[in-house]
Amino acid sequence: MKRADIVFSGMRPTGRVHIGNEWGALRNWVSLQTRFSCYFCVVDWHMLTTGYSDTSALQDDCREMVLDWLAAGLDPGACVIFKQSDVLEHAELALLLGMVTPLAWLENNPTWKDQLQELAKPEIRTYGFLGYPVLQAADILLYGCTRVPVGQDQLPHLELTREIARRFNNAFGDTFAEPQPLLSSAPKVPGTDARKMSKSYGNTIDLNETQATLEAKVKGMYTDPSRKRATDPGHPEPCPENPPGCAVYALHALYEEEGFFRKRGAACRAGEIGCMACKKDLISEMTPIFDGFRRRRESYKAADVETILAAGASRARAVAQKTMEAVRRAVRLR
Ligand code: TRP
Ligand code: SF4
Repeated sequence: MKRADIVFSGMRPTGRVHIGNEWGALRNWVSLQTRFSCYFCVVDWHMLTTGYSDTSALQDDCREMVLDWLAAGLDPGACVIFKQSDVLEHAELALLLGMVTPLAWLENNPTWKDQLQELAKPEIRTYGFLGYPVLQAADILLYGCTRVPVGQDQLPHLELTREIARRFNNAFGDTFAEPQPLLSSAPKVPGTDARKMSKSYGNTIDLNETQATLEAKVKGMYTDPSRKRATDPGHPEPCPENPPGCAVYALHALYEEEGFFRKRGAACRAGEIGCMACKKDLISEMTPIFDGFRRRRESYKAADVETILAAGASRARAVAQKTMEAVRRAVRLR
């Protein structure tokens, strides 16, 4: 049976969305919303798997993240935008999927092992955090999702989703389709200090920058420390003289037309352009895009977000309830 593709993706409400998230996921979501039937979910329960000790900002973070999604161009008329905890069926399905999920699958999940080491926090040694992929599988399977736009880092989770679906189908009869990843070509987006852009490094450029903060951040970006004068030959790309490469140059690669970008690299290497002029060019490239973010953000008042999430939840719930009726029958709970 051939079915039209259904797309589901989620994002944890970690706070402000930055251009790394935008290039890595949101841009792709915006282009998918007109081609497929799309569900985009604020996965606030997933946020609790590592962030349960202080939930005081959770509501605000959810609201701000949705505003950032809208600013980036997600259209609630074209896709379903909702919050995971508004659709209780996610929890019910996660519980049932947990029954057939071998512990070893979760213990061998590379993301889990990495995070345990990286975060080195005793408080993430929890059942909830170990079960993160089971909840994620429930998110995806509830909507009969066939395509999941994710980054490379999420492939192990998606593989687990497929394995859990298969395992459930074997135990209880064909219930779930196996979703496929939809890998987006996520470009590398450096932070202002040329390390990976990440909130924890304090090097982000956020979607809600004002013109003044955008300019200040670009002007403060890491370039090529060996250039004292505009006529010194520059090293825009990562190389022994400038190991991380120039962060301004890497952003030009994203925001500037290819031909101009090539000329810029040559001019930098020849010492024909100064870093301040180069940063001003970047500001000119980014300004119209950030104007667009601001315009769309302002067109949705904070109150609208509540309305959008409520409407999204009721559309999502209708589908999730149908799935759960079939699941309960399959398990013989009904
Ligand atoms: N684990 C994903 C992340 O950290 C978030 C997520 C939760 C998700 N549920 C999902 C992504 C379902 C895709 C589909 O990015
Ligand atoms: Fe980077 Fe531009 Fe300076 Fe070259 S001229 S080092 S590309 S900011």
